[in-house]
Amino acid sequence: MARVESEVGTRSGAFMKWIDDRFPFTETMKYHITEYYASKNFNWWYIFGVLAMVVLVIQILTGIFLTMNYKPSATEAFASVEYIMRDVQWGWLIRYMHSTGASFFFIVVYLHMFRAMLYGSYQKPRELIWIIGMLIFFALFAEAFAGYLLPWGQMSYWGAQVIISLAGAIPFVGDALVEWIRGDYAISDITLNRFFAFHVILIPLALAGLVFLHIVALHHVGSNNPDGVDIKKKKGPDGVPLDGVAFHPYHTTKDLVGIAVFLMLFTGVVFFAPDMGGFFLEHANFEPANMMATPEHIAPVWYFTPFYAILRAVPDKLWGAILMAGSVLLPAFLPWLDRSRVKSIRYRGWIYKMALMLFAISFVTLGWLGLQPAEGIYVMMARVFSVIYFAFFLLMPYYTTIDKTKPVPDRVVYHG
Ligand code: HEM
Repeated sequence: MARVESEVGTRSGAFMKWIDDRFPFTETMKYHITEYYASKNFNWWYIFGVLAMVVLVIQILTGIFLTMNYKPSATEAFASVEYIMRDVQWGWLIRYMHSTGASFFFIVVYLHMFRAMLYGSYQKPRELIWIIGMLIFFALFAEAFAGYLLPWGQMSYWGAQVIISLAGAIPFVGDALVEWIRGDYAISDITLNRFFAFHVILIPLALAGLVFLHIVALHHVGSNNPDGVDIKKKKGPDGVPLDGVAFHPYHTTKDLVGIAVFLMLFTGVVFFAPDMGGFFLEHANFEPANMMATPEHIAPVWYFTPFYAILRAVPDKLWGAILMAGSVLLPAFLPWLDRSRVKSIRYRGWIYKMALMLFAISFVTLGWLGLQPAEGIYVMMARVFSVIYFAFFLLMPYYTTIDKTKPVPDRVVYHG
């Protein structure tokens, strides 16, 4: 309140006092920004949370403009996207920003999650930050899946067909469930309409709410750091953690550098390689949906392929669907699967380091395998890497207990 009181004599000070008497503006800014102390040893792994927010804003803004010209109807959707690309002023830019943003969202979020695995950020007391993060992750999946149907291209149609029909493998209720999701006997205008409603309002609303809760939970317990040391344990006489620096101006300034680099990469893709050779925008999706002609290879966009590879690695449809769902859900249990006494990889033993490396390799390889045809050696490889993926999580309570850890220092180790 000191700043506000010293400025009370001025016009702006009086205005702030008027606001603060009615709304906790200064208090909130202090709690979350100017007096939120985060560790001084953050490295570049800590940029991805902020970048995820930047992408969320890009997606919402470009989405609003796309909606102004897009037509959610099976007869008009494909043509309306072409219209946006060719005739609407700057339409191509808005659309490419949105489609590139979808892929960048997942790149950023996967790296953000991996950071948490490097530094044990999901461990006590941050379990809820992680759980809310997982809910964000599921919402992102749903958002991307619903969004991909909207251009009504061949892959939109057949990708949705494959994934929705998975529910049909559930005994007794399967067929009815599939019909209920589609709202029709086949994927149709009705399905497109409801996916549009989910994509433009329901899921973005949920995402925004979840991100808000994510930050509230984070600021309640404080950020972890690359050493996994609790900085609140060592405070100066002023009550400020000795290893903490104020989020603003210190971290905000650093974040701006990261955001600038990110925007360079992002615009590089938007302007020079918006389809990324078929990875970000699949070639088959430049043809209108045709329910009479199945594309030769149906593959989802790259961010779904690790889980898709697990689905196809299993010969039985129901078990494939169960294992795929399991592979998406399992990370949610990390706070309880990890029994290590230390958080950061810096003080863990070789077993966890090896396990995390194998996990990262299996995740990337499964992603690549999900893009290959489900035959021969590819299926065999998908089975091997699926086993590694599951072993990482399921054996974790055991190997994190026996892993020899190093002593954790009292204060963070600062590499200036
Ligand atoms: C829209 C998506 C998301 C946004 C905007 C977001 C935003 C943020 C921000 C701004 C931070 C603080 C800065 C940082 O530590 O990087 C953070 C921290 C964190 N997030 Fe997220 N996040 C998202 C998704 C996720 C997901 C999917 C998970 C995991 C399942 C997750 C887990 C965490 C954890 C554990 C922390 C604390 C990290 C630490 O203190 O070391 N977040 N998030």
